[in-house]
Amino acid sequence: MLTEILLLLSALFFLYLSYRYAVSRPEGFPPGPPRIPLFGSYLFMMMSNFKYLHKGVLNFSKWYKSDIVGFHVGPFPVVAVHNAEGVKQVLNNKSFDGRPQVYLAKMREPDRNILGIFFQEGTIWKEQRRFILRYLRDFGFGRRFEQLELVIQEELTDMLDLIRNGPLYEHEKEIVKPGGYRVLLPSLLHPFSTNSVFHIVYNERHSRAEQGVLLKLTQMAMQFQRHADDYGKLLSIMPWIRNVFPNWSSYNKLMEANMFIHTFFANFIDRHIETYQEGFERNFLDLYIKEMKQAEAEGKTDSTFSRSQFIMSLVDFSFPALSAVGVQITFLIQYLMLYPEVMKRVQKEIDEVIGSGRLPTLEDRKEMHYTEATIREGLRIETLVPSDVPHKALEDTELMGYKVPENTIVIPSLYAYHMDERTWGDPKNFRPERFLDDEGKLCLKKDVSLPFGAGKRLCAGETFARNMLFLMTTTLCQNFNFVLAPGDKLPDLSKNLNGLIISPPDFWVQLEDRK
Ligand code: HEM
Ligand SMILES: *[C@@H]1O[C@H](CO)[C@@H](O)[C@H](O)[C@H]1NC(C)=O
Ligand SMILES: *[C@@H]1O[C@H](CO)[C@@H](O)[C@H](O)[C@H]1NC(C)=O
Ligand SMILES: *[C@@H]1O[C@H](CO)[C@@H](O)[C@H](O)[C@H]1NC(C)=O
Repeated sequence: MLTEILLLLSALFFLYLSYRYAVSRPEGFPPGPPRIPLFGSYLFMMMSNFKYLHKGVLNFSKWYKSDIVGFHVGPFPVVAVHNAEGVKQVLNNKSFDGRPQVYLAKMREPDRNILGIFFQEGTIWKEQRRFILRYLRDFGFGRRFEQLELVIQEELTDMLDLIRNGPLYEHEKEIVKPGGYRVLLPSLLHPFSTNSVFHIVYNERHSRAEQGVLLKLTQMAMQFQRHADDYGKLLSIMPWIRNVFPNWSSYNKLMEANMFIHTFFANFIDRHIETYQEGFERNFLDLYIKEMKQAEAEGKTDSTFSRSQFIMSLVDFSFPALSAVGVQITFLIQYLMLYPEVMKRVQKEIDEVIGSGRLPTLEDRKEMHYTEATIREGLRIETLVPSDVPHKALEDTELMGYKVPENTIVIPSLYAYHMDERTWGDPKNFRPERFLDDEGKLCLKKDVSLPFGAGKRLCAGETFARNMLFLMTTTLCQNFNFVLAPGDKLPDLSKNLNGLIISPPDFWVQLEDRK
């Protein structure tokens, strides 16, 4: 009898402890779903929306009637913010400028160190980000620079030629059908945006014959993007899972991508280190190498300039050009196919401002209010990075009246912000006019979207990306209509894939010359 009572009591005590664990949360933490051992609230997130975690978490806000919700991803406490005021507060306060050091970030580097820019914090992040942005500017990054514009035009000319005349090289058959005009998106666009960044970095480009390796590089970048998720996957919650389920956990796909990308940039940098001559710095790479050598010569052991850091910084600065730019343009093409009246107005503006005899320039951009508004509306309605790159509280802080302990992952949901009726009225409508004034001029005050984030962590490539988006989109719309070949269907936006960034599934599209 006594044993039974004892058993019952221990069972009750165990249940009580489990309950306490499930509902326990840091003092003053925002409301949110309970947690279970190992997973935290991850399963509830997946139950709420299996495909898109950012939508699942936004669903919590409705459930708990709060624009800020708190929960756990594995052992990590997380706070997600779903209104304009909260999102801006997170982005603009340096207390939230940290990055969670999750396994997904570590596994990108062979020694499992967090290096580079994206997932770095503190002094290394500041020094590296500042150095790279400062010197890349000299080579045209982030500003208007005629030489760079000419380089981008060379890329666009190559792209038009490939589309019209079909593949010349083996690798091009993967992205354009023989005879031309039938192209694979977003893959077609990636090598050309990559080449534009590479030109800034090392003053050379891969010619079309040499672009096979670039195509592979961009495919691997997409593989990484699509196999990750907003919270670093189950892999970040329980890293040991890679040993048990290497395929199912995406570990193998992620590692294949990481290794290819890392090796590519390591070889690339080593070639430049070997041919470096002091006093004859040829390009941005050489300037970085100079800094490395100086630190070595002065015996500085705490320098943030090292070969391994260099590799990852370059990976981070190239990664979005390998993947994000082409994906964002492809989203826009999908909308232009679904909204032919918008496409007509864009093409009318192109015909009036540029005509058909030459390629678009950034000078034209100032005159092309409707086109620019359309690109901005594309960036808003398909938030490429829906949960932003996660931030982290660097100290005990407060947010929207709740306590946020040090090391909490903080998510300023760009998706929620871009879809908020309180800010946009009709967020679900694709309506470029929302950014125009009464005279049809672009009104920047009306564009309060934040596709690139804000504050000290603002996307380091915003200006470059906006320029690329304009030049590539207008070039495509100037020269072609997007049409449906027999058997083709209009894009289905609900098929968009999840990942670190959202992306459309690869699809073939038929182009036709504009008359
Ligand atoms: C359509 C294109 C792009 C979009 C929508 C985009 C968006 C973003 C967003 C939302 C972030 C995170 C901001 C935050 O942490 O709050 C970010 C970070 C970053 N982006 Fe972009 N980006 C794009 C293209 C590019 C390009 C082309 C480059 C470089 C050539 C670039 C380089 C970076 C870097 C280095 C960071 C990390 C900044 C840091 O952690 O300090 N991005 N981007
Ligand atoms: C919110 O979650 C519930 C289940 O918890 C689900 O039925 C519903 O579809 C979700 N809504 C959205 C918009 O994801
Ligand atoms: C994982 O996938 C690869 C390639 O698809 C396959 O060769 C391998 O056997 C799989 N491994 C396990 C453990 O399922
Ligand atoms: C940033 O957050 C901290 C902690 O909540 C707060 O004390 C501080 O006033 C905030 N700073 C700004 C500039 O809003």
